[in-house]
Amino acid sequence: MSGQNGWIDQVEKMKGEGMICYGRVRLRAVEPEDLPRFVQWFNDPEVVENLNMYLPMSLVEEERWYEGLAQMKPAERPLAIDARFEKQWVHIGSCGLMDINPTALNAELGISIGDKRYWDKGYGSEAMQALLQHAFETLNLHRVYLRVYKSNPRAIKVYNRIGFCEEGCLREDRFSHGQYQDTLIMGILRPEWDAKKENRG
Ligand SMILES: CC(C)(COP(=O)(O)OP(=O)(O)OC[C@H]1O[C@@H](n2cnc3c(N)ncnc32)[C@H](O)[C@@H]1OP(=O)(O)O)[C@@H](O)C(=O)NCCC(=O)NCCS
Repeated sequence: MSGQNGWIDQVEKMKGEGMICYGRVRLRAVEPEDLPRFVQWFNDPEVVENLNMYLPMSLVEEERWYEGLAQMKPAERPLAIDARFEKQWVHIGSCGLMDINPTALNAELGISIGDKRYWDKGYGSEAMQALLQHAFETLNLHRVYLRVYKSNPRAIKVYNRIGFCEEGCLREDRFSHGQYQDTLIMGILRPEWDAKKENRG
């Protein structure tokens, strides 16, 4: 097929290659057509409540952010999360690894399911499993850690269930709603991930 449809088919085919899959989710590279959804999600107070974001975001800013991705280390580029829903792939959020330390073999993980309609359906847990499998079994990392607000019980439940343990508390690290709040550091080591994996069968 030629023309625009052929080009779209080509992009769809490329997206099908080299993706990180687990259960009902796949992690893929961010595409320009994802940007309006990011802008919508990152202007949603309920979503940003749990993220380190507190200013309104414009599409132009998001487009500049996208242009900057090419300068980032490939393994640290954010990934789009697609969920399998009613026989279709739906873009529901993003996740990624940051600050990969090449000697200590650790990295910080971040995740956001921006489309609230997909919260509490297990997709966040599956996206975490996909990203951790990639971190440990492809990138050969030894430790993955994250920062989570103590006021975010949904996320803490997911991280505990996956095998993260609380490594520390940054007291009064955040200022939100007129108050200082605590941030937890949680982490998981490769042997802990392997043990959990054996239990999963
Ligand atoms: C946190 C997040 C990644 C979790 O993804 P998700 O798909 O909603 O999570 P899951 O469905 O896999 O699991 C959520 C669990 O928390 C539970 N939960 C929901 N609200 C809760 C609450 N207030 N207290 C305790 N548990 C809660 C759900 O019941 C579910 O547990 P279950 O599977 O045993 O029923 C996602 O909600 C999100 O991105 N939120 C906004 C941004 C954010 O918080 N990012 C993380 C920053 S550290």
